[in-house]
Amino acid sequence: MTTYRNLIGGEWVVSTSARRFTNINPANTDDIIGEVPLATCAEAVAAVEAAAMAFQTWRKTPAPQRGAIVSRAAQIMSERREQIARVLTREEGKILTEARGELQRSINIAEFCGSQGRRLGGETIPLELADNFGYTFRQPLGVVALVTPWNFPVAIPVWKIAPALVSGNTVVFKPATLTPESAELIAQCFIDAGLPPGVLNIVFGSGAEVGTAIIDHPAVRAVSFTGSTEIGLGVYRQAAARGIRAQCEMGGKNPVIVMEDADLDLAVAGVANGAFGSTGQRCTATSRVILMHPVADAFLEKIVDSASKMRLGNGLEDGIDMGPSIDESQMSKVLEYIDVAKGEGAELLFGGQRASEGALSKGFFVQPTIFDRVRPEMRIHCEEVFGPVLSVIRVESFEEAMAVANSSEFGLTSSIYTRDMTRVFRYIDEIETGITHVNSPTLGGEAQMPFGGMKNTGIGPREQGSEVFNFYTETKAVYIDYTGAKREGKLY
Ligand code: UN1
Repeated sequence: MTTYRNLIGGEWVVSTSARRFTNINPANTDDIIGEVPLATCAEAVAAVEAAAMAFQTWRKTPAPQRGAIVSRAAQIMSERREQIARVLTREEGKILTEARGELQRSINIAEFCGSQGRRLGGETIPLELADNFGYTFRQPLGVVALVTPWNFPVAIPVWKIAPALVSGNTVVFKPATLTPESAELIAQCFIDAGLPPGVLNIVFGSGAEVGTAIIDHPAVRAVSFTGSTEIGLGVYRQAAARGIRAQCEMGGKNPVIVMEDADLDLAVAGVANGAFGSTGQRCTATSRVILMHPVADAFLEKIVDSASKMRLGNGLEDGIDMGPSIDESQMSKVLEYIDVAKGEGAELLFGGQRASEGALSKGFFVQPTIFDRVRPEMRIHCEEVFGPVLSVIRVESFEEAMAVANSSEFGLTSSIYTRDMTRVFRYIDEIETGITHVNSPTLGGEAQMPFGGMKNTGIGPREQGSEVFNFYTETKAVYIDYTGAKREGKLY
């Protein structure tokens, strides 16, 4: 059994802490994978200090060279993709094809960020004064704290680590305790690519203790967080109290609108993939489908058929469509929401129970679940479940569909299925989400496109795409007077 180690100042070190967390395969709890000691606050501080020391030389390393190391990490990830994908599936539970997809996305992101090392430019700006030269350039912030969730234990760390490093920052990375091996393997790709000691540090531990200690350390200049809204808002408050930058990517309650002219088979496939893919454990999952009345019954018949054909199981085995919830408490939360929805009067169309036939009894499986006749005021419509549960809202008009779609506090992603271009463009203008899709699932995103939510779902500059470099760098404005003369008459 593996004991996971912290990475501090270039050394993998076993924590001195006696508090341990067991890493278990959520598809089969007999499969014990390893043990994570939960770091002490002193270890967190040591990691920040190592990062602060390494910053002095890393910031002087030219950006194209920093980018070259990250590009090499992408290459190493590509060589190790199958090994890492299997570990990801074993400890997180998503099926192997999804884990492979996550690896490919991570490689794309690392490649994109590596190449940005050659493009980290500023601007030249004309000044009012003659013979004066004005320009801006980008500088790194210093030590940045990265806090990541278990549901994308490879891609989310990569989309924070890669731009942070290319920008010239050094990193203290606090991965989710539930998925430690993916975090170690991904960090090792960066180390093997030639990162100097201390540039990337890892501390496993509880967010409340270790996370807080890291963010409160005076050397930490920014925090990038992905996870629940509740914790994210706490991180944002803590960062604000210190006056440091924060980027918080939080929940979703992502709607899909299906208009009466939609290609129904396409819409059903997209919604099923969005709702049940990754067991619904992604912030971009489809949790609400808004159906125009004339197509509602036909759509539901098809999606129930598709849900009933899904094979649940261990994602490392062939022919499996959906894996388990990450752990017992997540599974219980999903089952509680199912009870809440029933209590509120939503009509259970399919699923609604723990799946425990045969080998499934060893894992945390919940059936793909569909509730019809959900109304916007119900909790099942408003709150993020993070499981394979789809709510159906029936509407009478495009206007009503838009009102329901936008009635959520969340604003990450969305989609519409229709062939009507007038409605498509109105929808794109009026939908209150940071990412939107037309005739495709709410999921995912490409490395070069910005990723993030509107309203209180996303705080700070977007992740991914070139915008992410605005978060990890600050701009210095430079005035150079080459007249050699005393300046007269300028009052500001
Ligand atoms: C994706 O679906 O594109 O935590 C990945 C999450 C998101 C990442 C989702 N920040 O689920």
